[in-house]
Amino acid sequence: MNVDEALEILEEIVETGRLNKVQRIVFRQAWEGKSYLEIASAFDYDYNYIKETGAELWQVLSTVLGQKVTKFNFQIVLKHYANRVSQLASQSTVNRSQLELGEMPQSFNANHFVEQETRWVGREALVNTLTQKIQDDCRVLMLVGITGIGKSSLAVRLSLESKIAQTWSKVKWFRFNADRYAFDEFACQLLGQMPSTFEFDQNPQKLVSDLVTYLQAHPCLLVLDMVEELLSASDRGELRYKDNLFAKFFDRLLEVEIMPSRLILTSQDRPPVIAEGRCKERSHLEQLKGLNIAEALELFKVWQVNPSRNEGVEYLRRIIQAYEGHPLALGTIAGEIREPPYSGDIQAYWHDYGQEIVEIEQDKIASSLDSNAEPVTLAYYSIDLTDLVKCRIERTFTRLQISSPLAYILLCMGATYRCSVERTAWLILIADAPKEAQITAFQALQRRFLLESDRSVERVLYRLHSLIRSIALQHLSNLESEAAR
Ligand SMILES: Nc1ncnc2c1ncn2[C@@H]1O[C@H](COP(=O)(O)OP(=O)(O)OP(=O)(O)O)[C@@H](O)[C@H]1O
Ligand SMILES: [Mg+2]
Repeated sequence: MNVDEALEILEEIVETGRLNKVQRIVFRQAWEGKSYLEIASAFDYDYNYIKETGAELWQVLSTVLGQKVTKFNFQIVLKHYANRVSQLASQSTVNRSQLELGEMPQSFNANHFVEQETRWVGREALVNTLTQKIQDDCRVLMLVGITGIGKSSLAVRLSLESKIAQTWSKVKWFRFNADRYAFDEFACQLLGQMPSTFEFDQNPQKLVSDLVTYLQAHPCLLVLDMVEELLSASDRGELRYKDNLFAKFFDRLLEVEIMPSRLILTSQDRPPVIAEGRCKERSHLEQLKGLNIAEALELFKVWQVNPSRNEGVEYLRRIIQAYEGHPLALGTIAGEIREPPYSGDIQAYWHDYGQEIVEIEQDKIASSLDSNAEPVTLAYYSIDLTDLVKCRIERTFTRLQISSPLAYILLCMGATYRCSVERTAWLILIADAPKEAQITAFQALQRRFLLESDRSVERVLYRLHSLIRSIALQHLSNLESEAAR
């Protein structure tokens, strides 16, 4: 694709006539790899003006395409867009809504239910207890815990539990994000799937009761993933729903006499208390902790990290304890142990990085002494663990940048996808590299457990875990700043 073709596509996307002269200049020059400073001096414009024009342009593209578009990735995004247009055009008539990059349907019925590919390990007692609660009278189950601890995976696991699947064969899955937190959008999407005979009013207040009535009439398991995105803190630090209709919806759901549907909600933050008083037994909050040592050792086996000697098992135990059984952090470590130069040799890995674990162990001892022998609360540990996990993931990025630079670029650029996309959509992000190198980079991410895969009936889609994505976005913006200089 050349710059004229790209400009043509851009005009079509943002509607002809909306681009002004300066926007066109910025687009053309950015396409040629010019920095904002170079554009400003070549065309005699103020540097800040050019930079703002560029930022606006990428923002318009981001909004229209539903994906973060930046100076760094806009070429790739447009190439991908053009590709999808021609693919769809050859299949059927082109529909704009199908072209939104990185978009996945926000809900799935049982047939399309996205099953995470990772093999589930442990938490058996918890799965049994929670299954029982859902079968009893628990209408709203809240799974709460720090990022990467396994809330969404547990929600998937519960939905697949045979006793639950038999009663609630229809599973509807909603994953919220920073731009998708309005109740009416959520409600309309859900109601949009109902039989056309059902009439509803789009008045937001009435939507609440319509939705509850719908859930009464159509028993299903509704999973609301990443509910923390629905919350914001007040001046006094109390969490509340950005859209108060969600609070009304949850209250109403718990109040009504009969409710055959069930709701599982995952959140990093504890959602505001719902349903005081008589409905208390109809909701349950489960604060999720990490896996225990036996479970985490089992998970390392699943990840094909098998210690050949007792010494190796002991190192793994210490790693597990340091990260409090946090599956996402442990996964990235397993990914590194599996890869060359260690190729599964835990002792060799410990030789190089064991000191990091020793330091965490020492910090933990020191902080428990500091706390004046007060019992260390879960919240205390969790805050600590959150930082620890972020640092761990940061280190994975740094090491990847050195060992597989192209995989690192792919990881950063992949963060522009908000949802799962096909492998080809990932490869196109590094389309300038030779095909073989693209495949190797993609595989490097897979082998290091940096890609989450969602399997639907027809295909496998890939995405980044939200924590890895947020760190990747920071790295991407650093890369962009370097490129803009
Ligand atoms: N019991 C488990 N067995 C196997 N893998 C697990 C288990 N629990 C979590 N994982 C893996 O750990 C990673 C993080 O889990 P998950 O995405 O469910 O975390 P989360 O708590 O939903 O995080 P976030 O709040 O950021 O959405 C995933 O790759 C998941 O597959
Ligand atoms: Mg999650």
